[in-house]
Amino acid sequence: MMLGLMSVSSRTVCTHRSLTERIRRGKTQQQALRWLTCGGVGGALAPPVDCRVTVEQAVSVWTQCFQQHGISEPLLSSNYIIAHVLGKKTMQSVERRRLRERLSDKERERVWTLCSKRLTRMPVQYVIEEWDFRDLTLKMRPPVFIPRPETEELVSLVLKDLRSQWGVRTLRCLEVGCGSGAISLSLLHSVPQLKALALDQSQEAVCLTKENADRLGLLDRLEVYHLDIMKDADLTLRSCSPVDVIVSNPPYLFSQDMESLQAEILRFEDHSALDGGLDGMSVIRQILTLAPRLLTDEGRMYLEVDPRHPPRIKGLVEESMLGLQYLGSHCDFTNRLRFCILQKRG
Ligand SMILES: C[S@@+](CC[C@H](N)C(=O)[O-])C[C@H]1O[C@@H](n2cnc3c(N)ncnc32)[C@H](O)[C@@H]1O
Repeated sequence: MMLGLMSVSSRTVCTHRSLTERIRRGKTQQQALRWLTCGGVGGALAPPVDCRVTVEQAVSVWTQCFQQHGISEPLLSSNYIIAHVLGKKTMQSVERRRLRERLSDKERERVWTLCSKRLTRMPVQYVIEEWDFRDLTLKMRPPVFIPRPETEELVSLVLKDLRSQWGVRTLRCLEVGCGSGAISLSLLHSVPQLKALALDQSQEAVCLTKENADRLGLLDRLEVYHLDIMKDADLTLRSCSPVDVIVSNPPYLFSQDMESLQAEILRFEDHSALDGGLDGMSVIRQILTLAPRLLTDEGRMYLEVDPRHPPRIKGLVEESMLGLQYLGSHCDFTNRLRFCILQKRG
């Protein structure tokens, strides 16, 4: 699973160089280093909260603090958190003048509280409780899976195909494993005549999907089910079929790869959102088995998988006469084979 949490994101940030240059002009670095020897958060040292700092000084202090404690993407982390406290999505959207002004007491306390959470390795998305996916801003809450940028490409693939059918009739789409609702809500947002059904084995995911749908005004075209497709196969078939489209970014990590995940992911995200069993295919196999009974004739299925999976899925479909046809595989922006498109045989 391509699980970098922030390395490529919908949000843009201040470059490290421009920020460092601005900070060098002041005394911030010296002050920061002094501060970094005080305070304490869950074993990690944090600067004391009572220091009066400008916005750019706060960014510098926390970037260095994160660096010192081995927190990944230290500059991005402090940028996102401090921008969020200032009511913006990125530091680039904060006025230049504001960068040299002091944080108010309230803002400083909030920055310190949120950055201290990041010191525990909590992902920024959970710290600021929101993240962007395509053109939507979604609420994020642990342990619900944080949507990754490559999943935006999965949505683009579905939209490209759906576009040819727009305006013809109401379309029904099922998402298996909806997490925060990112995929279903993006599709609903882009296709006015789409109805979506979304299911997840996690009650937290079901609640977050509903909350996000409600905030975006999309709840009237979405049904969300708390179902485990491994255990509730019959109920899934009864509740959801027939659908024109199935889309899923299922758990597809090989169990043995779980250990090598970043602490941010291992400590905070639901492991059942990630672990796909010995060969990463447990949930995928079940989706392939149920798909012919869920899909309308010639209905399509779009899957996001590990790069080792597409040839295996193709082989499985061709060997075991699942009632599906393998239409093709697509690469993600890093040129890895990540997406499979299948169709129910007519
Ligand atoms: C990789 S996450 C994807 C979440 C979301 N679709 C996204 O792309 O951000 C996989 C999701 O599948 C759900 N899931 C795992 N096993 C499942 C099962 N057996 N039945 C239903 N949902 C399952 C997890 O709870 C998790 O929310």
